[in-house]
Amino acid sequence: MSETILKVSGVSKRFGGLQALSEVGITIMKGQVYGLIGPNGAGKTTFFNVLTGLYTPDSGSFELGGKPYKPTAVHEVAKAGIARTFQNIRLFAEMTALENVMVGRHVRTHSGLIGAVFRTAAFKAEEAAIASRAQELLDYVGIGRFAQYKARTLSYGDQRRLEIARALATDPKLIALDEPAAGMNASEKVVLRELIDQIRKDGRTILLIEHDVKLVMGLCDRLTVLDYGKQIAEGTAAEVQKNEKVIEAYLGADHKNH
Ligand SMILES: Nc1ncnc2c1ncn2[C@@H]1O[C@H](COP(=O)(O)OP(=O)(O)OP(=O)(O)O)[C@@H](O)[C@H]1O
Ligand SMILES: [Mg+2]
Repeated sequence: MSETILKVSGVSKRFGGLQALSEVGITIMKGQVYGLIGPNGAGKTTFFNVLTGLYTPDSGSFELGGKPYKPTAVHEVAKAGIARTFQNIRLFAEMTALENVMVGRHVRTHSGLIGAVFRTAAFKAEEAAIASRAQELLDYVGIGRFAQYKARTLSYGDQRRLEIARALATDPKLIALDEPAAGMNASEKVVLRELIDQIRKDGRTILLIEHDVKLVMGLCDRLTVLDYGKQIAEGTAAEVQKNEKVIEAYLGADHKNH
């Protein structure tokens, strides 16, 4: 039997006079790649921000892995089991690729501040284990050779992969990717698609915001389409592609010059 990883119901978020999300609900099953698509300004990133505790929703309820979940502080979200990447890359620019991933891993460690200050044996052993796991993750996303490079010196595509490695470092139940292909060329996108597929094969569950229709349609088991904060369609890629409202929203978006 399949297991529900995330269930979100009735999420609304208003910014002043703008209803950025109206009663949005999604259910993601374990092992799925679930797509969140829609024209610019539809509310996709706002949904991620609500889900990961950056914005407080006006209404809505959440369950993660069958338990009630309240997205509050960002580190609590990571502990609960959701990791994300950002549309505008947020790495520690002056830290190495390896260190950026190690930061992600620290939410899962135990020796804490006291251990760090006194550099206890337990702390040093844990630190070595974290570094070796971080290197594995860099290898996994295909940028292992850049481990000692500062994040800012990596290409755009490699920085996006580094963000994915950092997100994976928290061992998330759900990994949420906000436009991971943005700024990538066609061959980088092929590699990214293989990586997302691999992450799924390795048993993780993925929530994906993406504008590249080919990538979305090829990868996603199910999709939700947002337009002006409203959920205008939900279903498989084939179902969503045929939906009149979806066609209208995308054609309309062209007219609005988005
Ligand atoms: N902190 C904020 N304060 C005010 N308005 C906001 C805020 N964050 C988002 N918005 C507005 O909410 C709407 C939805 O924005 P959001 O970033 O979620 O869209 P999106 O679907 O991610 O778009 P894109 O594809 O361009 O990334 C937009 O009109 C945006 O201007
Ligand atoms: Mg966005």
